[in-house]
Amino acid sequence: MENNRPSAHLKWNNRNEEIKSQAGNSIREIERIIVNPIFDNQSFFKQMGEPVSIDGEIKNRYYYGDNYNLLQVLAKSKNERKIDLIYIDPPYMTELDYHSRISVGTYSDIRHINRKAFQDTWEGGLDSYLDMLYSRLRLMRQVLAENGSIFVHVDWHSSHYVKVLLDEVFGRDNFINEIVWCFGGGGSSRKHFQRKHDLIFWYSRSSEYTFNPQYRPYTSGTVQRGLTNVKGDRYKLNEEGAIMQDWWVDINKILSPTARENLKFPTQKPKELIKRMIISASHSGSLIADFFAGSGTTAEVCNELGRDWILSDSSKLALQTSLYRLLKSGSPPFTIVTGEKCPENYGQGELVLKKPVFRKSDKSGWLMELGIESYCPIKENKRPFSQDFSSDIEFWELDLDYNGEIFNSHYQVMREKQRFKDPIALNLLVHVPEKESYKIAVKVYDVFATHTMAVVTFEP
Ligand SMILES: C[S@@+](CC[C@H](N)C(=O)[O-])C[C@H]1O[C@@H](n2cnc3c(N)ncnc32)[C@H](O)[C@@H]1O
Repeated sequence: MENNRPSAHLKWNNRNEEIKSQAGNSIREIERIIVNPIFDNQSFFKQMGEPVSIDGEIKNRYYYGDNYNLLQVLAKSKNERKIDLIYIDPPYMTELDYHSRISVGTYSDIRHINRKAFQDTWEGGLDSYLDMLYSRLRLMRQVLAENGSIFVHVDWHSSHYVKVLLDEVFGRDNFINEIVWCFGGGGSSRKHFQRKHDLIFWYSRSSEYTFNPQYRPYTSGTVQRGLTNVKGDRYKLNEEGAIMQDWWVDINKILSPTARENLKFPTQKPKELIKRMIISASHSGSLIADFFAGSGTTAEVCNELGRDWILSDSSKLALQTSLYRLLKSGSPPFTIVTGEKCPENYGQGELVLKKPVFRKSDKSGWLMELGIESYCPIKENKRPFSQDFSSDIEFWELDLDYNGEIFNSHYQVMREKQRFKDPIALNLLVHVPEKESYKIAVKVYDVFATHTMAVVTFEP
């Protein structure tokens, strides 16, 4: 990189050229999920079909942890598939802490909860922000396919610095577009014009890259006038519409708190926005990465468009929101991976399972009744156990044959409609093959975004 650096480039205090090797520096699989959600909240013991097989290749991956670690592993690995398109929406240096506010419980017993999402505050100011981004962008270039593209989404806080960094890392010749995404709504100022756009910088790895032009409807004025009359046949209106330019005004932010898409993750981007970039610069089957995943918008869009994906985020709330989104939208299988060190809070609460009851099934094997006896988000909390604890649970998962290492999620139990308000089923009746003993694992994701797992072994 050093040799390719343009003579005009960005300098900051203690600019670090080294790619530091972090402790951990490897990834391991901790969970594989075949999406098989149970939404039923009425019949406690609804009989479930056979659990689907969890073996076989799983293409989609979520990395929980600092993306620097993941990027290093991807960059070093000889077997990893190169990435066709990277979209990142990193912190913008806003100097804010982001929270997610939700209301949980039934209408007579409603609680308001404020959950930490992520921090965009920088002790070392702009210098440390640039250090963070520079080291990661260089690794992103290494993991990008020769004909791949990267889209970097920022706003006025950092955009001018980031553009210069991108020129250096990807090369000025590989700059393709500065997309201006304009939106409305929210706040007003008497001191300056409203700041109502973000910037998305598009760079390619080389001059060979994919571009599928996009179209927008003609304005009513253009349609009425028609271009043919003015300029002749060569300028006839296109059937697809007008070719899209680099300023986008037709997609708004997710403003309404009740919008279907709104997952209450601050800074969540609309699916339409990400869809446009992915369609424009990749093909069906391409591998897409989003290293600052937030609520997981990119993964859902990839599923809808038939792309494979790698996502990462270091925030527990981001992981949980993405999981919820993927389960709810019926995602293809995916795995959760993490660094060597097990993430904190895999077991922060207190989860007690019921002793299962086994009944002979009509088919071969058993029908097993199992459920959650109690759950408390904080260990040793003296609150008396009651059915109320169910309102602390956002969703839970079940592994019917826990192997002691990887949680194989056979079923996921969720609320049908209102994410935090409907009752959630706490008991299940599942069909299991005949065995001498069963090692069952249950994992609870609670409304405070802490995750707790309980493992028990039973004999019928
Ligand atoms: C602006 S948000 C992304 C929002 C996302 N585009 C969406 O649609 O929901 C930035 C995300 O980057 C994550 N993040 C910040 N630093 C990170 C790091 N070093 N490694 C992984 N994730 C990081 C934060 O936790 C946060 O979820």
